[in-house]
Amino acid sequence: MKTRVAIIGAGPSGCAQMRAFAAIEQKSIPIPEIVCFEKQDNWGGLWNYTWETGVDRFGEPVHGSMYRYLWSNGPKECLEFADYSFEEHFGKQIPSYPPREVLFDYIQGRVEKAGVKKWIKFQCPVKSVVFHNETNKFHLKYRNLKKDNEYIEEFDYVVVASGHYSFPNYPTFPGMNKFNGRILHAHDFRDALEFKDKDILIVGSSYSAEDIGSQCYKYGAKSITSCYRTKPMGFNFPNNWEEKPMLDKVELNIAYFKDGTTKKIDAIILCTGYKHHFPFMAENLQLKTKNRLWPNHLYKGIFWFENPKLIYLGMQDQYYTFNMFDAQAWLARNFILGKFSLPSLQEQQIENNIWIDREEKLETAHDGVLFQGDYVKELISLTDYPKLDIDKVNANFFLWKKHKHENIITFRDQIYCSALTGNFSTYHHTSWLETKDDSLESFLSIEKGKV
Ligand SMILES: Cc1cc2nc3c(=O)[nH]c(=O)nc-3n(C[C@H](O)[C@H](O)[C@H](O)COP(=O)(O)OP(=O)(O)OC[C@H]3O[C@@H](n4cnc5c(N)ncnc54)[C@H](O)[C@@H]3O)c2cc1C
Ligand SMILES: NC(=O)c1ccc[n+]([C@@H]2O[C@H](COP(=O)([O-])OP(=O)(O)OC[C@H]3O[C@@H](n4cnc5c(N)ncnc54)[C@H](OP(=O)(O)O)[C@@H]3O)[C@@H](O)[C@H]2O)c1
Repeated sequence: MKTRVAIIGAGPSGCAQMRAFAAIEQKSIPIPEIVCFEKQDNWGGLWNYTWETGVDRFGEPVHGSMYRYLWSNGPKECLEFADYSFEEHFGKQIPSYPPREVLFDYIQGRVEKAGVKKWIKFQCPVKSVVFHNETNKFHLKYRNLKKDNEYIEEFDYVVVASGHYSFPNYPTFPGMNKFNGRILHAHDFRDALEFKDKDILIVGSSYSAEDIGSQCYKYGAKSITSCYRTKPMGFNFPNNWEEKPMLDKVELNIAYFKDGTTKKIDAIILCTGYKHHFPFMAENLQLKTKNRLWPNHLYKGIFWFENPKLIYLGMQDQYYTFNMFDAQAWLARNFILGKFSLPSLQEQQIENNIWIDREEKLETAHDGVLFQGDYVKELISLTDYPKLDIDKVNANFFLWKKHKHENIITFRDQIYCSALTGNFSTYHHTSWLETKDDSLESFLSIEKGKV
């Protein structure tokens, strides 16, 4: 019987896995049977925007954490696929920080061309995965939401590509139950216009905090107060944005902070991150980790120690994204095809510990970029994934950091050079702050005054 591979999720990681198989099939090399299970009705993962929050019409938790008006928070030159440049997709240069819809279009373009949609079962969430030693196979149970039925299938390999920015991490603070305003997690944030003319409090000091705060500023919030647990973001914020130590408690509509100061607020947005959550995996196959650059228990960051037929993609905290998922997927594919073999478990663990020790010594974001860049370099060296100049991509990350620290509100107006094509992107016709229409059509009409 033909080898069967299940891929859970058709976001950028799951699509990378399908693309990896399609790429080798194009060279007339036989591939296993691929079945990708996707719980939403379209591919693209988080980039497939939905207005829905909470549970959907089938009672499934809504996966989406993206919001209207979201633009890439890093230069597109840092995430470009090594086998499909932005120039190839759009047929021209475009600016470096595309809005969500534009990146969604880019992600789709490659997999549409690869013709892999036929492998995907949409609206089919995976409900359980168990490994049976007797048969050496995984039993995967999924639900067909439209047919309202459950099915079990056997697989030789399972690739978990279900993402890890969907299940919110909720701290609670005294007084929340009696707060006279709205409280939500970033996962449920959809439209900054809701907070126009409001005094908002943002809890957290990482990417969601900085971006949701910037969105609210752009769309007319009266004031933004953000508070940090470990260290402040420390950007040059606009005058109506103040950073404070962590929230202590709320009383009616007053927030009290650890430094003894207070602020009247209308809404609290918890930008407190996400949890790795795989309730559909059997307990002995579940990855349990915090959001970190080197999640433990995975050889080369992807192969489950006790059973490498189980592969997790994209589980790292992410500087690198799309091209890292690709590099992982190419290696996973080679392993499944018998073109890459693993050393003993003991050797795997020794290598793994070297990465963990190095991760624990990282001090700055600069170190973090170099660390993840080295990881991607190593993965690329092990397969035929097209060469990507990681030193150039790292240099773009360093520039990005510099631009953000110069001005957190204008950094998206900067342009960068593609490590793939050597070409610089173009400037956008309007600054990020002034662009309220972030549709694909408006973004791609590069000429000034065309919108
Ligand atoms: C708000 C936000 C903004 C971001 N912005 C950027 C950015 O600007 N640039 C960048 O590079 N990265 C960004 N990211 C990081 C993001 O994680 C990656 O870009 C990318 O989406 C990760 O791809 P993935 O396929 O691993 O996971 P996801 O995109 O989360 O896709 C996972 C897929 O698995 C499906 N799924 C989940 N559970 C099941 C199940 N049980 N059965 C079947 N299917 C299932 C989901 O429906 C989804 O389609 C952002 C993340 C967030 C939360
Ligand atoms: N436009 C965009 O592209 C965009 C927008 C938003 C998000 N994103 C992406 O989304 C991903 C997730 O980012 P994220 O910011 O949501 O998560 P994150 O990077 O994991 O950060 C979580 C934040 O919450 C804080 N926190 C966690 N638990 C807390 C608690 N109990 N009390 C107080 N504070 C707590 C953390 O503080 P400590 O520092 O103390 O741990 C940290 O500041 C990233 O990949 C990011 O790039 C992108």
